[in-house]
Formats: sequence, C-alpha cells, structure tokens
Amino acid sequence: MLLEVRDLHVEFHTRDGVAKAVNGVDYSVDAGETLAVLGESGSGKSVTAQAVMGILDIPPGRITRGEILFQGQDLLKLKEDERRKIRGARMAMVFQDALSSLNPVLSVGDQLGEMFQVHQGMSRKDSRAKAVELMDRVRIPAAKERVGQYPHQFSGGMRQRIMIAMALALEPELIIADEPTTALDVTVQAQVMDLLAELQRELNMGLILITHDLGVVADVADKIAVMYAGRIVEQAPVHEIYKAPAHPYTKGLLESIPRLDQKGQELYAIKGLPPNLLHIPPGCAFNPRCPMAQDVCRTDEPPLYEVTESPVPRASACHFWKECLHG
Ligand SMILES: Nc1ncnc2c1ncn2[C@@H]1O[C@H](COP(=O)(O)OP(=O)(O)O)[C@@H](O)[C@H]1O
Ligand code: SF4
Ligand SMILES: [Mg+2]
Repeated sequence: MLLEVRDLHVEFHTRDGVAKAVNGVDYSVDAGETLAVLGESGSGKSVTAQAVMGILDIPPGRITRGEILFQGQDLLKLKEDERRKIRGARMAMVFQDALSSLNPVLSVGDQLGEMFQVHQGMSRKDSRAKAVELMDRVRIPAAKERVGQYPHQFSGGMRQRIMIAMALALEPELIIADEPTTALDVTVQAQVMDLLAELQRELNMGLILITHDLGVVADVADKIAVMYAGRIVEQAPVHEIYKAPAHPYTKGLLESIPRLDQKGQELYAIKGLPPNLLHIPPGCAFNPRCPMAQDVCRTDEPPLYEVTESPVPRASACHFWKECLHG
C-alpha cells in the first residue's frame, strides 16, 4: 500500500478549549488509485491531509494518536529534515487557491524551474526547459511564450494547471489535491478535474482528492471516504455509494447534488449544522441532524461496521446501515 493512515487523531488547543478535529481516521490509497475524501466544511479533511504532508500547524495542532504509513514507513516517527525530503519529491499537494499559493513576484517559469534547481541541482537554463515541458504536460497553450509571465497574467483555470505542474515536477508517488477546483467555474472545473485524473493514470500516482462536492468525483475516483466531525462515516467503492449509500449522512449529501433533470425543484439539504468540535455530541455525532436517529444513537457511538468485504471493503459507521442501504 502506498499510503495508509491508521487511527489518526488531531486536536487543536484553542482559548475556548480543545477542538477535536480528527477522531480516528483510517484510510488508504495505492499507486494508480484515486481516493475521494468528502464531507462538509470543517469535517477534518484538510487537517488529515496536512498531517499526512507534515504541514500541520503545530501548535495549536497536535497529533495525539495514530500512524501515517508511507510505503510502510511511519512518517510520524521521522525527523523534520527526513520529512522535508519526502515532501515535494515523493508527495505533493495541490491547494484550492493558486493565487495565494504561487509567488506573485516570480515568473511561472522561475517557480517551476526552482523545483529542479533546488532538488536536483539543475542549471537555470535546463530548469527553464523543464518548466516549459511541465507547462506543456498540463496543457497550457503557448507554454514557450508564456513561461516568463507572472501568475496574475493567467486565468484561474490556467493558474490551477500551474499548481498541478508544480506538484508534478518531481514526479511524486502521491498527490493530495485539496478542493483543487472549488474556486473555478463549472466548465473549467471539469477540465481541471479531467486533467488531474489523466495525469494520475499516466504517472500511476496515488491521488487523494478532497472535496465537499460529491458531484465532481463520480467519474474520477475509485473509492470514497465520507468524513463527519473528524471521523470516516462511510467508505466504499465509488459506484456502490452512488447506487445505495449505507449511511444517512452520505444519503443526505447525495440528495443535495443539483441534478440537471430536476432544475427548478427545491434541493434537499441536510438540515442543521455540523457539530461544534469543542462539544461533539455523545453517541453518533450525526444524531441531532439524522432523520433515522433512534435512542441508541444518542448514547452509543457506532463503530465502523463492515458492509461488504470484497473486492474493495465497504464500511459504515451507522447502527442502522442495513436499513439505510435497503431503505
Ligand atoms: N490552524 C487551526 N487552528 C485551530 N483550529 C483549527 C485549525 N485548523 C483546523 N482547525 C479545526 O479543525 C476543524 C477541521 O478543519 P478542516 O480539516 O480544515 O476542515 P475541512 O473538512 O473543511 O477541510 C476546523 O473546523 C477547526 O475547528
Ligand atoms: S447511528 Fe443513528 S444517528 Fe447515526 S447515522 Fe445512523 S441512524 Fe443516524
Ligand atoms: Mg478543507
């Protein structure tokens, strides 16, 4: 397995108390595989990714438990300089907001080239040629002419391609894309998503695709992990989850996707708000919002029940997953 996160716990110490942002996350992704991580804002998707990349804000953040195995090696046991060697070279991240992630006063060619100069000791001239090659690879038109331009001279979609090029530069084994298309308009979103999926296949990378939008991942992901209040509440191969969710929260998310054939109809939205992470409700964290909640849900925290075993395991953290699946 390329990456295996096991029982990860992350908390933030704030003035108001301890925010339990990640509460026992397990997920994995293999080479050539795409895992989509889904959930509303604040569910712990980014914090989990930051822990994997080793860019968590510590303090106030703290990893209190768990393992992050990268090709079998626990990253949490490595020294910072060993981690730095992995970051960028063997795992890289694409962020939502290219404009604030790219350096505004450096040309795109210089920023891309820097990766090769710093990590591979390449000359400026050679690294320039590499930058053009990368821009071609992410299909930026007229790469040779545009390599000297600055980030603000590119459109949002093109800037996101540049971010992807930066992430790809050193041919990492794993890419984590955190809401890579959220800031883009819909048609450009699809293009950038397709590009990511294509490159992932071409380079046989593992890809973790973080999004709050179930609509964008159907065609590109192999499997989905749905997060709620810092836990994975459902995990399944992508097609199974669309056919029949085994968790009421996933069901709610699915019913919130706008559908072209239902234009004008009111969208189902999950009522209520995600919990305050300083005071996660006892029992099932979703119980105050769950249309299927029973008494047991307010007292007993559901374990991650095994739904099916093979070929990709499927699991749901709901006491009533059977009723949900067949209801
Ligand atoms: N730097 C930080 N300081 C304090 N709390 C944080 C910080 N980063 C994240 N958190 C807490 O962790 C929660 C989960 O954040 P995050 O993983 O970013 O959610 P998302 O699923 O939207 O990516 C936030 O709602 C917040 O309570
Ligand atoms: S355990 Fe209960 S409250 Fe939680 S999702 Fe299942 S039915 Fe709803
Ligand atoms: Mg996030």
